[in-house]
Amino acid sequence: MQQIMRELDEARALLAILKPPIDELDEAPLFPSGGEQGYFDSYAQIGIHEEMIGDHVRTGTYRKFLECSGACVGKKVLDVGCGTGVLSMFAARGGAASVVGIDACSIATVAEKNVAENEMQHCVQIMQTKVEDAVLDAGSFDVIVSEWMGYFLLYESMMDSVIYARDKFLKPGGSVQPSRCSIIIAGAVLGRLAFDWDNVYGLKMKAMREVAAANMAKEAVVAVLDGTSIVTDETTIWELDALHCSVSDLEFSRPFSLAARWDTKVDGIAAWFDTFFEVDGQLKAFFSTSPSSTPTHWKQTFFYFPSGPLTVRSIAFLLSRILP
Ligand SMILES: C[S@@+](CC[C@H](N)C(=O)[O-])C[C@H]1O[C@@H](n2cnc3c(N)ncnc32)[C@H](O)[C@@H]1O
Repeated sequence: MQQIMRELDEARALLAILKPPIDELDEAPLFPSGGEQGYFDSYAQIGIHEEMIGDHVRTGTYRKFLECSGACVGKKVLDVGCGTGVLSMFAARGGAASVVGIDACSIATVAEKNVAENEMQHCVQIMQTKVEDAVLDAGSFDVIVSEWMGYFLLYESMMDSVIYARDKFLKPGGSVQPSRCSIIIAGAVLGRLAFDWDNVYGLKMKAMREVAAANMAKEAVVAVLDGTSIVTDETTIWELDALHCSVSDLEFSRPFSLAARWDTKVDGIAAWFDTFFEVDGQLKAFFSTSPSSTPTHWKQTFFYFPSGPLTVRSIAFLLSRILP
């Protein structure tokens, strides 16, 4: 009974740490200050686009879907948050009748040049505007595509803008791609990512370990784990159906339980997401940001237990509310 009470306390304490993540134990904010304009300005930085386009799991899967699945052939496609225009141009190469790429960031002017350089102006039109302010024919697009996902899928994500675009501009019977995403969690040990303060050139620094642990428990960590970090079974805690979800669905709470695979220590909860591109119920493309898959720029998100690692034979946590 005491053990169960302790686990429930741990679960309650977890609520306090499900906050915006810090990257690789670095406390610099992931997103710039400056509100909405600061957010859009951040996408004017070339490095962000190099990172996204250089993420071959991400970009290669969008390309496979847009160019090879047949989903764009003869279709009118809206690319929400087009950035460099890369997805718009994939859709054009995939046989779209026409593509509109929208981005509120000044990167849209570069996207226009990219489209011109690839001689796709006859098919691809770029607009620099927030999609919420775009003047387009209502209900006129067959396919809406967007790369909207953030850390932990939903952190700082732009899914609410995609929902806006869907409700205003998608034809009845049209599709939103990716069509489905799911968030998966598992108990994990951090292993190599946890600094060894017990042996610093033969010196012990327990106080440093305690400060580090307290800092890490305050906020989620974005880091690349590997399959061996996962020490419990995994469970899908949330699924998003892009065609039917509403903005209120993006805030959710889910109870969950996880069982340890063996007697082990557990440092906290690892979370990642899977992304599905489906047409008429048929899977056309897929990628996972799981620790056992090829790493992506989303890495994984890790929530430390605030009171330190648990040693368990089997674990069963209840969590009353997750706020993405
Ligand atoms: C994750 S990037 C994806 C860029 C590009 N589609 C790609 O795959 O490389 C998201 C882009 O969406 C844009 N964006 C976010 N919210 C938007 C909104 N409400 N209206 C227009 N653009 C938006 C950002 O400026 C950013 O360029």
